[in-house]
Amino acid sequence: MFAPQQYLTWLIPYYGRIRYDLATSSAASPDLARLLPLPALDDYNALNTLKETLAHHYALPTTDVQLTLGTSQALFITLAHLLKPGDRVLVEHPTYEPLWAVPQALGARVEFLQRGNDWDLTAKQLAPWTGQGVRALVLSDPHNPSGAVLTTAQILELARWCEAEGAWLVVDEVYQDFLSPQLTTHRHLHPRIIALSSLTKVYGLGALRCGWLFAPPEIVQGTEAVLRYLNGSNPPACAALGLAALAHREYFWQLSQTRARTNFQLVEQWLAQQPNLTWQAPKQGVFGFVRAERDLRPVLEQGCADHGVLAVPGVFFGEPHGFRLSWGADPEVVQTGLQLLSQVLAK
Ligand SMILES: Cc1ncc(COP(=O)(O)O)c(C=O)c1O
Repeated sequence: MFAPQQYLTWLIPYYGRIRYDLATSSAASPDLARLLPLPALDDYNALNTLKETLAHHYALPTTDVQLTLGTSQALFITLAHLLKPGDRVLVEHPTYEPLWAVPQALGARVEFLQRGNDWDLTAKQLAPWTGQGVRALVLSDPHNPSGAVLTTAQILELARWCEAEGAWLVVDEVYQDFLSPQLTTHRHLHPRIIALSSLTKVYGLGALRCGWLFAPPEIVQGTEAVLRYLNGSNPPACAALGLAALAHREYFWQLSQTRARTNFQLVEQWLAQQPNLTWQAPKQGVFGFVRAERDLRPVLEQGCADHGVLAVPGVFFGEPHGFRLSWGADPEVVQTGLQLLSQVLAK
C-alpha cells in the first residue's frame, strides 16, 4: 500500500549535502540560537498554548485547530480521516507528489486535474466529475512547483463545487505566509475548506516539525482519532519550540522576505540570459518552475555531483520538461549557484 515516493526518496539523501542549494523550497534556516534559552521540552501545556496561539494569529476558534508534525502529517491524517478505500479524489497536476501519493496509499481512486499553461485551475474543469461521488479535491495554493496563486474567486468556485458534491477542498497552504505579514488562511474563505500548513517553508523551521490543520470541529476530532494511532499524543517538544519560534515570527518573516527579494532579482537577471528557458515569474515566495525543452534530470544530477549545485528536476512534479528553481538560500549561495547552473545546463 505504501509504495515508495519518487520525489522524497530522491531528495532526502541530499539534505544538508548540497553546497549551492537551488532545490529546497523553503527559506534558509534562521539562526536558531535566537530561541535560546531553550523552552521546557516536556511541558504538555505547550500543546494547548500553541493551539491557542495559532487560533489567535489566524483568527479562528481553537476548535478548528489540530496540531500535527508538519504539513505532511496534516495531509495524512486529514485524508486518513476523510477517505475510505475506493473513494474518488481529485488532485491538481503537476504538483508536490504526496498530495496524490497519500490518497493513493490510502486506497483512494486518484484522478488528476490539469493546471493550465499559466498554472490556472478553474471550477469549469470539474464538470466531468459533477455527480461522480468525488470525496475530496486536493491542491496547493500557493502552488508547488510554480509558486502561482489562485484568486479568491477561483478558490470559492472550487469550494462551492465541493460543497454541492458533498466533497472537501483540502488546500495545502504551506507557502501562504509568504504572501503577507498579516496572517490569513484559506479556511476563512469557505466552510468546506480544510487548510494545512507549518513553520517549515516561510520561516525556514522544518526541523521543528511544527505543523497544523484548520478544519471544522468534527473534522478536527476525526483527525485526532487518526493521530492517536500515529503519535499517541503530539510531542510537547515540537510545540514548545514552535511557540518559541512564533514569538520571533516577524523577525523570521522579514529575514526570509529580504533574502527572497534580493535573490529574486538575481534569478530574473539570470533567466534573462538563458535563451532556452522560460517561466512565469511567481509574485512571491522562493521558487518557481522553469520550462525547458527536454528532461534535465540527468544533467541536473551530474551538475550536483560535479559542482555541488542542485535544482529539482520537473519529472518529480509530473512535468519532465523543466525544473523547479529555488532561491531561499543566502544571496552569495544563490549567485554562485546560478553561475554554476549555467555551466551545468550548457552541457
Ligand atoms: C506543498 C508542500 N506541502 C508540504 C510540504 C512539507 O511540509 P512540512 O515540512 O510542513 O511537512 C512541502 C515540502 O516541500 C510542500 O512543498
